[in-house]
Amino acid sequence: MAKGQILITGGTGYIGSHAAIELIQAGYKVKILDNLYNSKITVLDQIEKITGVRPEFYEVDIRDAVELAKVFEKNSFDTVMHFAGLKAVGESVKQPLRYYENNVGGTINLLECMEEYGVDNIVFSSSATVYGDQGEKKCSEEMETGRGLTNPYGRTKYMIEEILKDTAVANPKFRAVILRYFNPIGAHQSGLLGENPNDKPNNLMPFIMKVATGEIPELTVFGNDYDTKDGTCRRDYIHVVDLAKGHVAAVEKIDEGEQVKVYNLGSGEGTSVLEMVKAFSEASGKALPHKIVGRRAGDLAVICADPGKAERELGWKVELSIAEAMQDTLRYLGMEVEG
Ligand code: NAD
Ligand code: WQD
Repeated sequence: MAKGQILITGGTGYIGSHAAIELIQAGYKVKILDNLYNSKITVLDQIEKITGVRPEFYEVDIRDAVELAKVFEKNSFDTVMHFAGLKAVGESVKQPLRYYENNVGGTINLLECMEEYGVDNIVFSSSATVYGDQGEKKCSEEMETGRGLTNPYGRTKYMIEEILKDTAVANPKFRAVILRYFNPIGAHQSGLLGENPNDKPNNLMPFIMKVATGEIPELTVFGNDYDTKDGTCRRDYIHVVDLAKGHVAAVEKIDEGEQVKVYNLGSGEGTSVLEMVKAFSEASGKALPHKIVGRRAGDLAVICADPGKAERELGWKVELSIAEAMQDTLRYLGMEVEG
């Protein structure tokens, strides 16, 4: 597709900001919309330092239909890349309505606005969580989704995927690429941009980062009695820059093939929590204090992608290693890289 104008919702967030960089560098004109709930306006300075381009920014909440419409009124977008959403699994269990309202309600607002202003293309940030428990099997796109999901966050992703499919049935011009991310980690190679949540962290890497900077004394490893090589859970970690490049590949193919296309973005390789600790220690040249505690409720032993479809159809695959993700994370933290 021609290099058009892209609206990035959630574009000051962790993944959206990295996608903005790759899209700008690939020649797209990018505008960013975010309510800054979980990100900082200074991210725009970093995007500008890296790309030489400062994307226009709208501080708007996707739930605010009136303000959202003003953004569409002023622009003529070809595609929306929709990252905006709440993502804390545990919090979603405690505040389900807030998650449904923000993620599902916000997406409905966005889709209505797109319809009103004739914007037909969307790339959506979905998650491996929609697969539920597939046991030891690698998750592939044709597997059943939505069954046995353990939390409202995951259900919002599943519901939005279904809403996109229904929208495509009703509007033959509508095209969607659903990207199911596995576990994004790492930072931009420049060290200028990385994961910096406003809220307290939930995921493994932000905890490792807090241990490395001394903000918390040690990492708690949730369980070493799983049926895996070293007893700790295995996940498919993917460098955020690889993930961002997957979005460029997706938008370039949005006009081809089926109206709604679904792709896993993962490496196809599982890494255990203890292997992650080791990889970080090797990159920093220092031991990372950690202790084993009990299992975390809802964790599955192994979650891993079959990334074959993205490689076949998008020509995309992971290029960066976990070691590189750890080194880039250290650079982002302003710490020395050893390994
Ligand atoms: P993030 O929190 O860093 O970014 C999300 C951004 O959306 C934030 O800047 C936040 O302020 C903004 N936002 C939230 N609600 C909004 C609203 N109502 N209106 C406008 N802006 C709003 O998270 P991320 O890690 O960059 O994730 C981006 C997307 O990818 C999310 O949809 C998330 O569910 C999905 N995802 C993330 C992961 C992961 O592990 N990080 C994995 C799979 C899927
Ligand atoms: C990874 C591994 C933990 C923290 C979640 C969502 C998923 C997707 C990605 C959005 C697990 C272990 C963690 C800690 C630990 N997000 N861990 N100590 O649970 O695979 O996936 O984020 O869509 O939907 O569920 O990621 O980073 O929380 O955990 O031992 O302090 O690290 O048990 O094995 P998870 P995570």
